[in-house]
Amino acid sequence: MAPEKKDILLEGHEADGIQEYDNALPKWWLYGFYLTIVLGAIYLFYYHVWDGGDWNFLWFGPRGEVAEYAEEMSHVKSTAGAAKDFSTWVPRTDAASLKIGETIFQQKNLCFTCHRPDLGGLVGPNLTDDYWLHGGKFQDILADISHGYPEKGMLKFGNGNVLSDEELLDVASYVVSKHGSNPPNPKPIDPARDVLFKPE
Ligand code: HEC
Repeated sequence: MAPEKKDILLEGHEADGIQEYDNALPKWWLYGFYLTIVLGAIYLFYYHVWDGGDWNFLWFGPRGEVAEYAEEMSHVKSTAGAAKDFSTWVPRTDAASLKIGETIFQQKNLCFTCHRPDLGGLVGPNLTDDYWLHGGKFQDILADISHGYPEKGMLKFGNGNVLSDEELLDVASYVVSKHGSNPPNPKPIDPARDVLFKPE
């Protein structure tokens, strides 16, 4: 009787004395393999043909990742503070508000880590002199703080810890109150900042 197919050794298939039968792959393995092909096709259609699983074309069902991403990004932009109208805001000068501003600057929002506790500048620019990268008007400073300069390391509200309008006003007032305080060894003026913008 001829040997069963599964018992036939593969000719010339030998390495270090190990030989191999010409056996069919087990059914469970093959079905698993076919399943990955089917899932791959579904994945391809789901994400690349139906726009990241955007089922809105069916008038129901989950929204796709693309739509979700766009919505999140628009939220980020709208909370960045750039759109806020600061035109009527004026600096506070009372001791209690400046004290709150100081606590935010020196503790809560870690402004001092980049601008130095005396505001003389370190990673971030000196905030006490007449030179401003982004303008020295109170409105400019409010905008600087609320949107930050993430590409330069300053998150919104300094460290991303969102401030209420009241707190924002207090910390900006604190910054303005230090204008002209002449801290020793300030950060040298960056040539990019060599434009004089006197705070109003
Ligand atoms: C991680 C470092 C970092 C922290 C924390 C940080 N800043 Fe800044 N800040 C910077 C850098 C860097 C710039 C310069 C941005 C640029 O080059 O465009 C800057 C710019 C500014 C400006 C604009 C200065 C100008 O010349 O126009 C103001 C105002 C300011 N920061 C205030 C603050 C306040 C207030 C806080 C805390 C609420 C704070 N920063 C926290 C790094 C920081």
